[in-house]
Amino acid sequence: MNNLIEAIKQLKKEKNAIILGHYYQKGEIQDIADYVGDSLALAQWAAKTEADIIVMCGVHFMGETAKVLCPNKKVLVPDMAAGCSLADSCPADKFSQFVKEHPGYTVISYVNTTAAVKAVTDVVVTSTNAKQIVESFPKDEKIIFGPDRNLGNYINSITGRNMLLWDGACHVHEQFSVEKIVELKAQHPDAVVLAHPECKSVVLKLADVVGSTAALLKYAVNHPEKEYIVATESGILHEMQKKCPQTTFIPAPPNDSTCACNECSFMRLNTLEKLYNCLKDESPEITVDPEIAEKAVKPIKRMLEISA
Ligand code: 13P
Ligand code: SF4
Repeated sequence: MNNLIEAIKQLKKEKNAIILGHYYQKGEIQDIADYVGDSLALAQWAAKTEADIIVMCGVHFMGETAKVLCPNKKVLVPDMAAGCSLADSCPADKFSQFVKEHPGYTVISYVNTTAAVKAVTDVVVTSTNAKQIVESFPKDEKIIFGPDRNLGNYINSITGRNMLLWDGACHVHEQFSVEKIVELKAQHPDAVVLAHPECKSVVLKLADVVGSTAALLKYAVNHPEKEYIVATESGILHEMQKKCPQTTFIPAPPNDSTCACNECSFMRLNTLEKLYNCLKDESPEITVDPEIAEKAVKPIKRMLEISA
C-alpha cells in the first residue's frame, strides 16, 4: 500500500494533477487527496485550481461539474461506474418535460444531477447553500426544486416556501432506521443526532443538527466533548474521527442490519489501485457534450457567485 501511495504522489507531481476527494470516499483515498470536502467545496476547488489534471474521487456528477467548470482541463475519475442513485432518479428528458409543463417557474437543482439536468436549471444548489439560495428569491417566486424530495421538503419547512418538488431520493439516506436511532438515543441519552437533509423527514425530526457533510463535521469539531449518532453516509466518520480523536461517533444503522446500506456503493467503487491506474493511463476521462456544458455552466457559476 505504501508503494502505491508513493507512486500516486509521484504521478501527481509529474503530471501536475490535483486529487479532490469527497467525505464519503474510503479513508485511504481521503488521506491521499489534496483536498477533501463536501460537494460545494469540491466544485469551488475545481473552479480555482491551476492543475492540468483534476482527479475527482467522488461520483460521476462531481466529475461532470468539474469538467463543465474547467472545459480545458482533463478531468479523470477512478471508476466511471461510480454513479449516484439520486442523480439517476431524475432523467434529463423527463425533468425537461416537467420544466416545460410549468412555465414561469424558476428551476433550482441540487448538484446531484447530470449536466443535462443542470442545462435546464436556473441555479444549482448543494446541501450547504440550498437555504441561502432559495431565500435569495422573493417569497412568492414559483420554484421547481429537484431532484431530492427530502432536501426539498426540508428546505420548504425551514423557509416557509412551497416549492414544487421532483420525486427523487438517495438510496443510502432513505435507509436509516427510525426505530434503531430511537433505540440508540435511549442507550446514549446525551448523544447529539447529526443528520444530512437527504434523510427522510421522520429521521430529520429526530435530529439535533441537520446539515451538509461539511456542516455536520464543523458542528462536531466545535463540540468535541459530545457523543454523536451520525445519520449520513458512514465515510464521513473517517474525517470526524481524525479531527476529533477522543469523540465517540456512532453511525446511524440502516433498516436492513444485514447490509452495509449506510455506505454508498458508488462512492466505495473508488480504490487506491483505480486511482493509480487512472493517473497513469489518464483514463477514464469525463467528457460533456459542449452544447450541454455551455448551458450547464451558467447555473453552476450562479451558485458559486451566491456562495462566495
Ligand atoms: P454534501 O453536499 O453534503 O457533500 O452531500 C452530497 C452527497 O450526498 C454526496 O453524495
Ligand atoms: Fe448519490 Fe446518495 Fe451516493 Fe450521495 S450517497 S453519491 S446522493 S447515491
